[in-house]
Amino acid sequence: MPTVAATLLLASAVAAAAAISKPGCPSKCGEVDIPYPFGIGRGCSMEGFDITCNDTTDPPKPFIAVGNIEILNVSLVDHELSVHIYMVGQCYEQSGNYSTTSLALPFLFSAASNKFTVVGCSTLAYVVGQNVKGNTYASGCVSYCDDAGGVSEGPGCDGMGCCQTSIPKSLSNFTAYFSDSLNNSEVASFSPCSYAFVADQDWFRFNKSTLFPDFGDETNYQVPVLLDWAMRNHSSCRDAEADYPNYACRSAHSDCFNSTNGPGYLCKCSQGYTGNPYLEGGCQDIDECELSQLYPCFGVCSNIQGGYLCTCPPGTHGNATKDTCIGNSSKFPLPARLVIGFSVIIVVLVALVSSAIICTQKLKLKRERDTFFKKNGGFKLYEEILSKKVDTVQVFTEEELQRATDNFDDKGVIGCGGYGMVYRGILDNQRTVAIKKSKKVDERQKDEFVNEIIVLSQINHRHIVRLLGCCLELDVPMLVYEYISNGSLFDVLHPEHYASPLPLQARLTIAEQAAEALAYLHSATNRSIIHGDVKSHNILLDDDLSAKVSDFGASQLVPMDEDEFILFVQGTLGYLDPECMQTRRLTDRSDVYSFGVVLLELITGKKAIYADDAWEKRSLATSFLVMMKEQRLRDILDNKMIGEGGERLLGEVAAIAKECLSVKGEERPSMKEVAERLHSLRRLRLQPREEYDQRAIEMVKAEETRRCTETDTSGYHILDSSTLLNNVDAGR
Ligand SMILES: *[C@@H]1O[C@H](CO)[C@@H](O)[C@H](O)[C@H]1NC(C)=O
Ligand SMILES: *[C@@H]1O[C@H](CO)[C@@H](O)[C@H](O)[C@H]1NC(C)=O
Ligand SMILES: *[C@@H]1O[C@H](CO)[C@@H](O)[C@H](O)[C@H]1NC(C)=O
Ligand SMILES: *[C@@H]1O[C@H](CO)[C@@H](O)[C@H](O)[C@H]1NC(C)=O
Ligand SMILES: *[C@@H]1O[C@H](CO)[C@@H](O)[C@H](O)[C@H]1NC(C)=O
Ligand SMILES: *[C@@H]1O[C@H](CO)[C@@H](O)[C@H](O)[C@H]1NC(C)=O
Ligand SMILES: *[C@@H]1O[C@H](CO)[C@@H](O)[C@H](O)[C@H]1NC(C)=O
Ligand SMILES: *[C@@H]1O[C@H](CO)[C@@H](O)[C@H](O)[C@H]1NC(C)=O
Ligand SMILES: *[C@@H]1O[C@H](CO)[C@@H](O)[C@H](O)[C@H]1NC(C)=O
Ligand SMILES: *[C@@H]1O[C@H](CO)[C@@H](O)[C@H](O)[C@H]1NC(C)=O
Repeated sequence: MPTVAATLLLASAVAAAAAISKPGCPSKCGEVDIPYPFGIGRGCSMEGFDITCNDTTDPPKPFIAVGNIEILNVSLVDHELSVHIYMVGQCYEQSGNYSTTSLALPFLFSAASNKFTVVGCSTLAYVVGQNVKGNTYASGCVSYCDDAGGVSEGPGCDGMGCCQTSIPKSLSNFTAYFSDSLNNSEVASFSPCSYAFVADQDWFRFNKSTLFPDFGDETNYQVPVLLDWAMRNHSSCRDAEADYPNYACRSAHSDCFNSTNGPGYLCKCSQGYTGNPYLEGGCQDIDECELSQLYPCFGVCSNIQGGYLCTCPPGTHGNATKDTCIGNSSKFPLPARLVIGFSVIIVVLVALVSSAIICTQKLKLKRERDTFFKKNGGFKLYEEILSKKVDTVQVFTEEELQRATDNFDDKGVIGCGGYGMVYRGILDNQRTVAIKKSKKVDERQKDEFVNEIIVLSQINHRHIVRLLGCCLELDVPMLVYEYISNGSLFDVLHPEHYASPLPLQARLTIAEQAAEALAYLHSATNRSIIHGDVKSHNILLDDDLSAKVSDFGASQLVPMDEDEFILFVQGTLGYLDPECMQTRRLTDRSDVYSFGVVLLELITGKKAIYADDAWEKRSLATSFLVMMKEQRLRDILDNKMIGEGGERLLGEVAAIAKECLSVKGEERPSMKEVAERLHSLRRLRLQPREEYDQRAIEMVKAEETRRCTETDTSGYHILDSSTLLNNVDAGR
C-alpha cells in the first residue's frame, strides 16, 4: 500500500524536525534516538531514565544505566522501549538452565506487544513473575511433536513445535525455566534443543526449517522485548496534575493519559502538534499544508495552530479535502440572472444601508477586541487556565469591567501613575475592587505580561495587594485588584487638608510591614520579583492602617527604549535608584533604594521631591544625605515626631535609610535585613524607657563616629528633572 509507506515517511520526517532531547544533551547513541525523559549524562534525563552510551563498539550502543540492558529503540509516541534480554535454552543431555530477568521501575513488560514463547518438541516451560504490586504470576506452555512430520508448518505457533501464550499486565520481572517432566530424548534426533523467551511478538516468526538451532553458547541468544515506560511517580494524571511542580508534561499543547500498563501516566502532544511533550516548548504545531500527502487538501490550505483549514477556491464549493470542489453554476440564462441580480441587489442594498453602519461598527469592534485579546497574550493565559496551571486568576470580560466602573467614569478614578490609571469598581457580586488600566504592551512583551499575571496571581501575603483577575480584551490590558479602603501612605502623610499627623508608632509599623512585603517579593516566592516602583503612593493602607504594597512586578514591563525610559524616570522621580539610571536595569537593590526614600518621607514628613523654604524643588534623598553629613539631621526631621519624644528612634530609622540610599547597590542592605532591623527597632521602643535610651544613645554615637570617618559618597546633585535627564544621557 503506497499511501501507508508515504504516511510513515512523512511522520518520521516530522518527528525528526523537533528537538527531542534536553538542550545541550546528545540526542543519539549510535543509531538509536534518545528522547527526553531518557538522556545520556548528568542532568540530561529524568531520574530512572539514565542511559549510558558504550562507545567501545561501532556503532556505539545505549544501555539502561541500572541493570546493563542493551536498548535497541526508544519510542516517545508509543512509550515503548525495545531492549535485548537473554532467552533460556536447554539441549539434550544438558541440564536445564534458567534465567531471571528483573527490571527496575519505571519499566514494565508490555503485555500487548510481547508473548511468552516456547520452541521445541516435548518441551514444557514455565514463566513465573511478579507484577508491580508484588503479586505472583505463573504460566506454562507445552509444545509437543512425535516426530519431524508432526511439526507445524508455521508461521503461527499452534502447540506443535511452538507454543505461545500472552503475559499479564504490569509484569515487572520474571523467571523462565524448563520442567524436566517431559523427556526429549526421543526427539533429540530432529529437535536437539528447546528454548523459551518473552519477546516482541512481531519479531518472532516461527519457521520450521530454522526451528532447532544449535545452542553452542546459549548466553549469546538474546531476544528483543518491548517494555512500557511511564511517569510512575504519580499513579494517575489527576495526582500528577495536583503536584504541578513535579508534573512531567511540561510542554504547552500536551495532554496527559493514565498509563494502561501499571500505575503512572504518559504525556503526549495534543492533536495537531508534534514533538516532545516532556520538554518545555517541546510540542510544535504541525504545518499540515506542507504535508499534503498526509493531510490532503485540494483547495486553499491555511495552517492554523493545532490544525488546518482547507476550503474550496473562490467560486466553487464542496469538500476540498476530498477533491470535490465544483464550480457554482446557475440554471438561469444571463439576462434573467441580471434582472434577478439587480432587483435582489436593490432590495439588499436598502436593507444593507440601514444596518451596514451598525454591523461594520460591531464587526470592527469585535475584530479589534479579538486582536487585542490575542496581542495581549489572552490565548496563552486561557491555555494555562484550561490546563489548570492557574486557578486563582479570573478572566473578566470588557463588559463586566465596564459595568463595574460605570463605563470607566472619571468619578471612579482613584489613582494614576507611570503604569496607568486606577479605577474603583463594584463587580456584579458586589465586591469592591480596584481596576488598573495598564500601559500598552507590545507583541514582544505579551508572553512576559501573561507570565507576570500568573506569578502575581500566586502571591498571597498579608501585606501585599492581591491580584484577582485581568481582562485582555482591550487595547490595553487591565488588572483587577482587591480594593484597599484607606488610600495611600502618600495621601496620609501629605494630606491636602489638615489632618492629625500619623503617630510615630503607626509609621514604624507601616514601614516594617511594607519592608516585610518587599522582602517576601524578593525572596519568598520561587521566582524573585522586583517591585520596580516603590513609593509612598504604592503603599496602601487598610482600615486599621496596616500596609498593603501594590503595583508591584511591573518591572518586567519597564520600557527601555529611550523616550519611554525618560518618561519612566519622570514617573519615579525622587525614588529612582541612581545606579539604575546608569545601567537601566532594575535590581532588588533598586527597591531598597526607593524604600529608603519612603523611610525618609516617614521620618521627615516631606515629599520625595519637596519645595524648600525658598520654594526651590529639592530631592529629599539628597537633602537628607547632605544634612546627615553636616550632622544637621534634626533640621530635616518631622517636628511633630520629635515632639512625640522619638528623636533617637528617628535617628535610628535615619541610619537605616542612609544605608538604603548608598550609591552602590551592593552596599545597600537586603530588604530582609531592613525588615528585621525595623522589627527590632519597634520592639525596642516597647521596652522600658531607660534601658531603651541607654542603648539608643550608644547606637547613635557609634553611627556618628562612623559617619564622620566616611568620605563623601553622595557624588550626585540635587535632583531636578533636567539634571536627571542629563544623567540619563551620560549613562548611555
Ligand atoms: C520521583 O520521586 C523521587 C522521590 O520523590 C524523586 O527523587 C525523583 O526525581 C522523581 N522522579 C521523577 C521522574 O520525577
Ligand atoms: C562497553 O562494552 C564492552 C564490550 O561489550 C565492555 O567490555 C565494556 O565494559 C563496556 N563499557 C562500559 C563503560 O560499559
Ligand atoms: C524504532 O521504532 C520506530 C517506531 O516505533 C521505527 O520506526 C524504527 O524503525 C525503529 N528503529 C529501529 C532501529 O528498530
Ligand atoms: C547453563 O548451564 C550451564 C551448565 O550447567 C552453565 O555452565 C551455564 O552457566 C548456564 N547458563 C546460564 C545462563 O545459567
Ligand atoms: C520483582 O518485582 C517485584 C515487584 O516490583 C519485586 O518486589 C521483586 O523483588 C522483584 N523480584 C526480583 C527477583 O527482582
Ligand atoms: C529421558 O529418557 C532417557 C531414555 O528414555 C533416560 O535415559 C533419561 O534418564 C531420561 N531423562 C530424564 C531427565 O528423565
Ligand atoms: C524459513 O526460513 C528459510 C531459511 O531461512 C526461508 O528460506 C523461508 O522462506 C522461511 N519461511 C517462512 C515461512 O518464513
Ligand atoms: C485516571 O485515573 C484516575 C484515578 O484512577 C481517574 O480518576 C481518572 O478519571 C483517570 N483519567 C482518565 C482520563 O481515564
Ligand atoms: C458557491 O456556492 C456555495 C453553495 O452553493 C456558496 O456557499 C458559495 O458562497 C458560492 N460561491 C460563490 C463565489 O458564488
Ligand atoms: C470532507 O471529507 C472528509 C473526508 O472524507 C470528511 O472527514 C469531512 O467531514 C468532510 N467535510 C465536510 C464539510 O463534509
